[in-house]
Amino acid sequence: MAAAMTARNKQCFALVLAVATLTIIWTMRFLGPNHHVITGKIIPYAKAAYSHISPQQTIRTVDLSRLQKHVKTEDFSYAHRTIRTKLFTGERPTLTKINEPLFGTPLRMSQDDLEGIPLLELEPIELAVPRSPVADTSIMSFSIATGVDRLERADQLLHWLPNTGAQLHVLSPPSDDALTVEHKLREQGLNLTIHNSDLPFPKAYFYGLKELYQARTPNTQWLVLMDDDTFIPSLPYLVDHLNTNYDATKEVMVAAVSDNIDQVKTFGLIPFGGGGIFFSVPLAAALVQDKIWDKCMAIDLNQGDGIVNDCLNHYSATRPSFDPGLNQMDFSGDAGGYFESGRRMLTIHHWKTWYHVDMPMAANISKACGFECVFQRFQFDDNIVLSNGYSIVEYPKGIEDEDADGNKLVDLGKVELTWAGSKGQYEHHIGPLRDRLGKEEKKTMRLVETEVLPGKGVRQTYVERVEDTESVENAFKMDRVVELLWLNP
Ligand SMILES: *[C@@H]1O[C@H](CO)[C@@H](O)[C@H](O)[C@H]1NC(C)=O
Ligand SMILES: *[C@@H]1O[C@H](CO)[C@@H](O)[C@H](O)[C@H]1NC(C)=O
Repeated sequence: MAAAMTARNKQCFALVLAVATLTIIWTMRFLGPNHHVITGKIIPYAKAAYSHISPQQTIRTVDLSRLQKHVKTEDFSYAHRTIRTKLFTGERPTLTKINEPLFGTPLRMSQDDLEGIPLLELEPIELAVPRSPVADTSIMSFSIATGVDRLERADQLLHWLPNTGAQLHVLSPPSDDALTVEHKLREQGLNLTIHNSDLPFPKAYFYGLKELYQARTPNTQWLVLMDDDTFIPSLPYLVDHLNTNYDATKEVMVAAVSDNIDQVKTFGLIPFGGGGIFFSVPLAAALVQDKIWDKCMAIDLNQGDGIVNDCLNHYSATRPSFDPGLNQMDFSGDAGGYFESGRRMLTIHHWKTWYHVDMPMAANISKACGFECVFQRFQFDDNIVLSNGYSIVEYPKGIEDEDADGNKLVDLGKVELTWAGSKGQYEHHIGPLRDRLGKEEKKTMRLVETEVLPGKGVRQTYVERVEDTESVENAFKMDRVVELLWLNP
């Protein structure tokens, strides 16, 4: 038939086909009473996305019941996007601009009716993420002083440490569970040795240096003291950074200064332990000599990093190199601004106590896009910024537009001071800082779930709760849910 078609027939056929496709899409879209397309001012990205939807896009029916546990309002809005990654070699930019909107038209969903939802599939969007540097991670050895019970719960270690060749030594008060926990974590790929220690915590922390030194191999270059809540987003990146910036064949210490100047005023210019204290093997060799070691072990302070500091000051000419990538994170409240800065963080601390960000959940996305994409930042046409694994933020009033004084509405080159305190307290480590935005200027969807879909990819669910935006006019009074599916490479 097609071969014999005249030009007129062809036109006619195309028209019928187009009408039929549109009819099908239209019918499916309005299949249920609750799946209305949301239009209007409240969700500005809807308009932008409309122009990208054409009849060629596929529709599939999905079950969204899993979202029930994340929403509190009867109805909620939903949008999603599939992401394909493109790997590149080189430094990660703090911000990558993408010249298209992230989401399609959001749909209105009802909690009571989440099965068999017809969804428009936009073309997958392609995002460039860096490859991990090639690095020999077995040059690192880590020590933590903590209880066996806390170690058992430290699943953040499973993100960065298994099968890296790096040793982990843990000094713990004697526990009946030590062997069981050691065995369990070894099975998960950690090269772990638990040492029974009756020393008080600060001394056990410092004593880790001797354990690491004694267990070193010809390969070992860095001995690291850290806390049980010190998180490393990417061990290859950290190793590459150390190799590039420091000479581990010399007596060297690399450490974090507190990001809170008041902590520095209180404790002094010490290597703050939570950010990780990195000793080169020659420096450790100098400190563990009996005559020095015994004096350092006798230092009577209630902080392990304080002992390190006094030991160094009194018995060595080496001083810490404060690396801005290592983070002690002495701030409390909403840490969002820092996690939305796009900056590389070599270490992250206090995420379970001073503020709350679920590191294992955030970092799970590495199973689809690698270690280096965690907290990577992308800006889209619809005034939306993705800080991968932390948040998706919409700036309804714009980002690049200028205010009356000619300043950008949102200067994404500066870190938003979202946590408690003043700029003066944090500028020396985290600046330049900018003021916290109001709820009218910034609408935040926070990561609530990361699910690994075997053989397919990793799905992230981000939610903005209406109860968190009570000051904002929200005609729909609905929670807002968006999902990203990162396809496996
Ligand atoms: C653990 O580390 C030690 C010292 O580097 C090494 O001899 C041993 O083979 C490692 N074990 C595993 C399972 O990697
Ligand atoms: C991370 O992914 C694993 C599957 O690989 C899953 O079992 C686990 O619950 C996830 N963890 C978090 C905290 O999201």
